[in-house]
Amino acid sequence: MSRENVVLIGFMGTGKSTVGTLAADKLGWTFVDMDTWIVERAGKTIPELFASEGEAAFRAYEREALRELLSGRGRVLATGGGAVLAAENRERMLAGGLVVALTATKDAIVERVRSDRNRPLLQGDVEERVATLLEARLGAYDFAHLTVDTEQLTPDEVADTIVRTLKASAQSS
Ligand code: S3P
Repeated sequence: MSRENVVLIGFMGTGKSTVGTLAADKLGWTFVDMDTWIVERAGKTIPELFASEGEAAFRAYEREALRELLSGRGRVLATGGGAVLAAENRERMLAGGLVVALTATKDAIVERVRSDRNRPLLQGDVEERVATLLEARLGAYDFAHLTVDTEQLTPDEVADTIVRTLKASAQSS
């Protein structure tokens, strides 16, 4: 396992950005939110990008982001919830860093994303969209080196768990 970066994966609303910011701070590393990176690169918001270029174009930006961001070191990366769907991305994540999956129940996710207009895949009936996508993505995050349930811990405790795991894996090799 590479310890050069931390890659946070997980469904929308599992707290990847919040936890990633805290973990980067504790490690003295750089936090990068992949969606923000894509918005800057594309010059469009995520909803604009989906509307004007389509989801496939967004997924291409996502692959490019991972290629570029995981070629370096010392980064904590919050990936978008669908970034794990491409095998190429999963391989790159596993080779590029400690992959940490954050989980939460459907109800907690719905609460966290309910009023969000920035996620094109959740527009309409949020509860139905979350349920359908969670089902479609069942098992999609299971390839992580470490899985942390975000409902039993505060974001700070989740970040501490990640830092501890990273340091323990450095000592054991
Ligand atoms: C997506 C998740 C979003 C964003 C895009 C698609 C997905 O990121 O990349 O709206 O397919 O799950 P977050 O997981 O940060 O919300």
